[in-house]
Amino acid sequence: MEKLIIHGQKRLKGEVNVSGAKNAAVAILPATILSDGDCIIENIPDILDVSILKNILTDLGADIKNLNSSSIQIDTSNINSHIATDKQIGKLRASYYLMGALLGRFNKAVVTFPGGCDFGVRPIDQHIKGFEALGAKVEIEHGKVILTAQKLVGAPIYLDVVSVGATINIMLAAVKAEGITTIENAAKEPHIVDLANFLNAMGADIKGAGTDVIKIRGRKYLEGGHTYTIIPDQIEAGTYMIAAAATKGDVLVKNIIPKHMESLTAKLQEMNVRVDVFDDSIRVYCKDKIKKVNIKTLPYPGFPTDLQPPITSLLCRAEGTSIITEGVWDNRFQYVDELKRMGAKIKVEGRMAVIEGPVQLTGAPVRALDLRAGAAMVIAGLMARGETVISNIDYIDRGYEKLDEKLKTLGADIKRAE
Ligand code: EPU
Repeated sequence: MEKLIIHGQKRLKGEVNVSGAKNAAVAILPATILSDGDCIIENIPDILDVSILKNILTDLGADIKNLNSSSIQIDTSNINSHIATDKQIGKLRASYYLMGALLGRFNKAVVTFPGGCDFGVRPIDQHIKGFEALGAKVEIEHGKVILTAQKLVGAPIYLDVVSVGATINIMLAAVKAEGITTIENAAKEPHIVDLANFLNAMGADIKGAGTDVIKIRGRKYLEGGHTYTIIPDQIEAGTYMIAAAATKGDVLVKNIIPKHMESLTAKLQEMNVRVDVFDDSIRVYCKDKIKKVNIKTLPYPGFPTDLQPPITSLLCRAEGTSIITEGVWDNRFQYVDELKRMGAKIKVEGRMAVIEGPVQLTGAPVRALDLRAGAAMVIAGLMARGETVISNIDYIDRGYEKLDEKLKTLGADIKRAE
């Protein structure tokens, strides 16, 4: 098993290019199942989750040509099975988008129950509620979700919780349904807008993505022959912005949509970190002490839960006591015990973490407990005195393209080792 070894306290300096958004790519790839022709998709991040998804689609019968490291041509017209039960599927959260996509294409689907990072219970009741409203029968047997419908008919659907996954899955199932579907209390994340744009480019009729009411008028066919470019990864961008502040560095984070970064930009500025916003890049620099802040994670446009672990590492060097409240997941502070091995003074009570600062972290052997917890360990390692050895880095590779290489070009002392 590979590890990341970091010798900390090097200021990050220079420019870094952000890759395509993981959570958009893992929705758009399954969405190609709904297309009646082939499509070219650009700016796909080179990460493990995408490779797994490409393998799953190939096994289902898709023809995928890699045009270059970030673009593919995909033709799903040969997919003739609605059954996706390979054991790779259980490894991946986003494999649940196969439910909506296969159901949308075949009016039936059998998909292994999804896996993914462990933040406590991860129910899919809102996905099921949506599929049932569209006319599908949903059964869960032997770890598989079995969906069957005579036909799918558009319906009004009110989500009881704002769910990214349910919003996307319902869009996928509804896009070819008969009539109009409205999703109320829909999630508004940038990757939802990206998926809607991709589907609309193929001839779908989706309005309101990015607001809390999405209206989908079903279409019989979605034509192929289009080239679509995935948006930049908001969370990867945020991770580099936080890493710059954490190391008192000076980094230009390039190829991003600054609007997507507003909640983080505002918090960094409140912490006394300098943030200059340009058209498609953001410079983060910081020489001074940083101030404590309180943060509550929320669905977009609130502060993203996926940046909660990285910013917790940064707050270890803030002057005073910061409080982070996790507003999305029940149990997303498990990684705090790993930070404590490095000297962090953090108390967790339920969905709240109280971070005492400033603390000089010191290197230690730690584990990446999930993808963003792994990013938190990397940032802590960059801040720490001495050597940090991070194990379980498969998690990091699932969602960050070449994190270690990109950090190295910014001057970090980081390497991979067996
Ligand atoms: N929820 C329900 N019922 C449902 C679905 C969700 O109660 O049917 C609850 C969840 O338990 C949670 C909240 O609703 O408390 C939000 O969950 P959501 O469905 O929005 O999360 P998700 O779609 O499973 C995606 C991202 C996560 C990110 C969350 C929140 C993907 C593949 N995953 O998960 O990203 O944390 O939205 O923004 O898009 C990551 O990238 O590291 C990651 C974990």
